[in-house]
Amino acid sequence: MSRETALPSVESTLHGNILVLTLNNPPVNALGVEVRRGLLAAIDSATDNPAVAAILLVGAGRHFCGGADIREFGKTPQAPTLPAVVKHIEDSPKPVVAAIQGVALGGGLEVALAAHYRLALDGARLGLPEVLLGLLPGAGGTQRLPRLIGAKAALDLMLSGRHVNAREALELQLVDRLADADDALAAGLAYTRELLSSQAGVRRTRDARALGDQPLQREQINAAREQLAHKSKGLLSPHSIIRAVEAALDQPFEQGLQEERRLFLECLDSPQRAGLVHAFFAEREVLKAPETRIAQPRPIEQVAVVGGGTMGAGIAVSALDAGLRVTMIERDQQALDRGRGNVEKVYDGLIEKGRLDAAGKAATLARFSASLDYQDLAQADLVIEAVFEDMAAKQAVFKELDRVCKPGAVLASNTSYLDINAIADSVSRPADVIGLHFFSPANIMKLLEIVVPAKVAADVVATAFELARKLRKVPVRAGVCDGFIGNRILAVYRQAADHMMEDGASPYQIDQALRDFGFPMGPFQVADLAGGDIGWATRKRKAATRDPAARYVQIADRLCERGWFGQKTGRGYYLYAQGPRSASQDPEVLAIIEAERARAGITPRTFSPSEILRRYMAAMINEGANVVHEGIALRPLDVDITFIHGYGFPRYRGGPLKYADQYGLPQVLADIREFAEEDPRFWKPSPLLVELVDRGTDFDSLNHAD
Ligand code: 3HC
Ligand code: NAI
Repeated sequence: MSRETALPSVESTLHGNILVLTLNNPPVNALGVEVRRGLLAAIDSATDNPAVAAILLVGAGRHFCGGADIREFGKTPQAPTLPAVVKHIEDSPKPVVAAIQGVALGGGLEVALAAHYRLALDGARLGLPEVLLGLLPGAGGTQRLPRLIGAKAALDLMLSGRHVNAREALELQLVDRLADADDALAAGLAYTRELLSSQAGVRRTRDARALGDQPLQREQINAAREQLAHKSKGLLSPHSIIRAVEAALDQPFEQGLQEERRLFLECLDSPQRAGLVHAFFAEREVLKAPETRIAQPRPIEQVAVVGGGTMGAGIAVSALDAGLRVTMIERDQQALDRGRGNVEKVYDGLIEKGRLDAAGKAATLARFSASLDYQDLAQADLVIEAVFEDMAAKQAVFKELDRVCKPGAVLASNTSYLDINAIADSVSRPADVIGLHFFSPANIMKLLEIVVPAKVAADVVATAFELARKLRKVPVRAGVCDGFIGNRILAVYRQAADHMMEDGASPYQIDQALRDFGFPMGPFQVADLAGGDIGWATRKRKAATRDPAARYVQIADRLCERGWFGQKTGRGYYLYAQGPRSASQDPEVLAIIEAERARAGITPRTFSPSEILRRYMAAMINEGANVVHEGIALRPLDVDITFIHGYGFPRYRGGPLKYADQYGLPQVLADIREFAEEDPRFWKPSPLLVELVDRGTDFDSLNHAD
């Protein structure tokens, strides 16, 4: 074995007559410019070196390759491009073998597809997830993959972005060989030697014949296009993927590559790509809370929930699904039976859908117990309180927890709005108290706001982040205030929507404008889903402290007074004559709105969809800026992730503050100032927004400040 010169990101080592090229760019061997240069040079030197009979590509560390370097997107491109490198690999006159351990994703799989033979180790995961970043495979993937595995399977991989395991990759003929080994180098060398001894030569994927049956392939492409019309509303790159595969069918390879390149660059330039890449990095940044850097999490095995209603049951299911043991406490036997029933219902639903069997349910519920006795929480590592939204009720629960829980147990509240400092101060161990704000349904929604009160210990915060990891939630660190990050901002843009409704827009127009923007539901649909009674109770509670000069729209109160709480009562803003899924517009609601306008002395005016959006987003962005300004959110990206994972904000727009950057902060500020002319009390520009505009910078600049 002898070492050759190489650029540092690609190590080049001769093993007998096999040149091993090791991608070495931690943590995932992304194909940054140094790696691309290294690969190109190494392939050239292998071609010129008579001692080399074959080339083996492997990745250093855990992974073969995580794809193109996402951090380079949007920056000035540097040669060589990845398509050029990939072409070089495929054109190698000496056989190239890729041995895949860990992941081969995106450009990483495209490199492997350009190799002449592919071996996957057990545990390998392969995929083309570019669509999740608003892109299409741009290094020949859209042309090689259909030729290798057919249009249908290729479209499935590229449109879903899903990862396939090694076995499925073999079944799809995406790889040629599996190795039940954990050393890619050894397995790869053995396979390459075998290929050499059987005189296997160069075999280019571009010459593969899986697109042979043209009419069938075209049918499959059409079917994918039809499905897409229903599924990926508003997204650009899935359509580009289909067009690229069509080019693979219709055009010679080189022309297909050109079409792929054109479509790739179009996607690369799109705001959708910028939004999705922002979301990708933001999801990783939110994990890096200051406390997680300085403290180790406490061990969590035994979890308890107090309250088995909507949230308590959902949280219990989430913890059970993560393999934890869960005890539920309720206030009386009837409520306890209902709480247990709420948990069982989730698993029965899965059985009905064929996604679980009775034995699976029994095995999960074996880790679940329900009790009326707080003493049963003595060994709990973490208790999550989810009783009624009432400070006295919560403090009474915490008093019990303080009495029975072992030292070091984490005591959490799922409160939506209440002051967690006041809860913490009511017990003898405030350092153990934290907010864990799950979203409904708690076993499905990804967001977990980790609300950090003044006296909490750093390791309790770290434990909350570790819990989020175990539960597969997306955690966002939030400070204490009324509504934390999400509900505080929601309260403001909901008011903006109510103002528009009273001024002349119907709730149906407003919902439509927001669905067209990309939200799955508009705010009035959401209100009907959540139940109007909860907001009504909050409004009544706050009535005494409300600023009497502030505008207050009473339409929601009029609906609630009639018992119209939304889906659960069969009517709210919408009528649900045929059950929760059958929403129709309600002329009686429109009449109530008319009457309220008249009562308030308002002459209704019309609103265009773009004005609705402008006002709604300005309210959301402005309060988002306040939340960052006050340190409730650490950075703008924390607001973005909160809205993407908790409030249905379209991911491809990157979150409200990323959207604000794209829309232009000076324009947001101008909008707010324009609206303030009618209602200066409601529309007060956030000091942070003003400051960013004055400095000529954007929210994103704060995401990168240390
Ligand atoms: N480029 C740059 N950085 C990347 C990266 C990439 N392709 N993939 C991961 N990273 C970074 C992450 O940002 C993170 O950085 P941080 O530590 O500073 O936060 C670090 O690598 C580790 O990533 P994860 O925390 O996600 O580690 P995991 O072990 O959980 O997951 C992974 C590893 C499965 C590779 C996951 O990171 C992933 O899915 N990466 C994205 C893969 C992808 O989308 N590739 C396609 C890129 S587009 C492309 O290839 C275009 C081509 O067709 C031309
Ligand atoms: P819920 O009314 O469905 O359930 C509350 C449960 O707590 C009831 O089953 C009740 O019997 C039980 N309970 C009341 N007092 C108790 C006590 N002293 N000991 C034991 N159990 C007691 O309410 P929901 O919706 O589950 O809300 C619970 C908490 O979660 C509230 O603080 C709420 O603000 C918060 N939350 C609610 C969300 C939602 O969408 N419903 C979302 C996020 C947080």
